[in-house]
Amino acid sequence: MAARTKATARGRSAPDTTGPKLLVLSGPNLDRLGRREPEIYGSTTLAQIHERLAAEAKSRGARVECRQSNHEGALIDWIGSAEDEGFSAILFNPGAFTHTSYALYDAVKGCRLPTIELHLSNPDARESFRRRSRIAPACLGRIAGFGANSYSLALDAALRHLAGAGSGASNRKGARVTSP
Ligand code: DQA
Repeated sequence: MAARTKATARGRSAPDTTGPKLLVLSGPNLDRLGRREPEIYGSTTLAQIHERLAAEAKSRGARVECRQSNHEGALIDWIGSAEDEGFSAILFNPGAFTHTSYALYDAVKGCRLPTIELHLSNPDARESFRRRSRIAPACLGRIAGFGANSYSLALDAALRHLAGAGSGASNRKGARVTSP
């Protein structure tokens, strides 16, 4: 997508770099939202979620870049380069990798950006294997169980955190980091 521009004092155009830029990542099978088990995940597609998130971010002076992959390595690469790409925070729905991936735990722990784990469903109210998140200990916090609204709630949480981050209220990664 082309970079947005704004007028400068000299009347030229420059990339619009105002406001925080957030990376929104969704993991395996989330590309099938809308058709995948709608009784659990709802009927909203990922494209619709991304569209709504972009509008909500814009209305709050922020930007989102939304990506999805079914591949663990792609998610690891995106997390690893997020800071260099200028992102201020990550909203992350790791899908089933939530429950299995030490590699994603390491990626989030090492990336130096506040990361919010999010889920459409409430994994704690489902099968027992979903009750363990390998990634949660590396995250600032977690939002789960609100369907497509979980993405919006995570955006709100991230923006509130970033707005308070300069006040010394907590460190960049959040106050607590524990072992998985
Ligand atoms: C999910 C919950 C995971 O347990 C599951 O494997 C998913 C989706 C959610 O958004 O509710 O793929 O992350």
